[in-house]
Amino acid sequence: MKILVTGGAGYVGSVCAEVLLERGHGVVVLDNLSEGHRRAVPAGAAFVEGDLADRQGLDRLFASHRFDAVMHFAALALVEESVRKPGAYLVANVANSIHLLDAMLRHDVGQFIFSSTAAIYGEPEVVPIPEEHRTAPINPYGRTKLAFERILEDCRISAGLCYASLRYFNAAGATPERGEDHRQETHIIPILLQVALGQRPHFEIRGTNYATPDGTCIRDYVHVLDIAEAHVLALDHLERISGWVFNVGSNRGHSVLEALEAARRMTRRSIPAVAAGRRAGDPPVLVASSQKIERELGWRPQYSGLDAIVESAWAWKQKFPQGYEVSPQAAG
Ligand code: UFG
Repeated sequence: MKILVTGGAGYVGSVCAEVLLERGHGVVVLDNLSEGHRRAVPAGAAFVEGDLADRQGLDRLFASHRFDAVMHFAALALVEESVRKPGAYLVANVANSIHLLDAMLRHDVGQFIFSSTAAIYGEPEVVPIPEEHRTAPINPYGRTKLAFERILEDCRISAGLCYASLRYFNAAGATPERGEDHRQETHIIPILLQVALGQRPHFEIRGTNYATPDGTCIRDYVHVLDIAEAHVLALDHLERISGWVFNVGSNRGHSVLEALEAARRMTRRSIPAVAAGRRAGDPPVLVASSQKIERELGWRPQYSGLDAIVESAWAWKQKFPQGYEVSPQAAG
């Protein structure tokens, strides 16, 4: 199949592009490089630098390729930033996504896989969280993703769109060539590894008085390759599952302190840590029930597990200590 991958220069999108190419699909990456990196785009993919706000550019793109499906990763995805800049999140995650949907439907491309998020559940009433759990996001990021899930459902009903929404929990880990490299890094595992390499003086434990066993937040870390596999499976089964949502998580939660210990163990470096205040918009616990995706798509996490995730991220970090902007050779 020929697949348009928006945000394919970003973390999850670039790994999915890599896996799609390995499976013999044709891939065109569309990315504005605001968060992504040109070097993250796999060599076998065609690259188009462009923005979803550019409706004419989207028209040209769909007119010049005969896409079978779209995988939509391009988004703003930082919880705390979304609390400070809700308007930017509405534009990027809702308005621009509508432009994409509009262009693809006008060009008769009817298959779509959406990168949704665990953030749409808010503070869970039941853990592990099943897909039918009520949705009550506690930050603008989660609200924008939920709004677009609803728009997709309207398009399924009114325009026959065939889609699935994949609600990722905490994407983490790396492949040998692709890893997590955000210009402003806020994610726990890359920050822990920056401290391990001496690029930051210490790790801040953001909140130590949550109602969890050790007082720190609990998250469900899922390897980015397992997320990519979920996309491949969803595409394979899309007609049967159109309109469905799936959690993509490992069913297991780890606290911030456990992640810190895993990073110390796997890197064998000292990682100094200090207690710090809570981050705005952080739910205390997010752990997926993965029963539905296992039952319906036969998905099993192959690479997830905190130690394996940290190990793969550490291997990538040692190869790309400054991230993508400096090549491994140049980094010496
Ligand atoms: N944390 C720290 N110190 C840090 C960084 C993070 O203690 O320096 C903590 C956070 O407070 C949180 C946990 O580590 O409890 C994980 O934080 P991340 O920033 O790595 O991930 P989030 O859980 O905030 O965000 C992820 C995805 C979002 C998604 C969200 C669901 O990045 O896209 O999960 O809430 F929406």
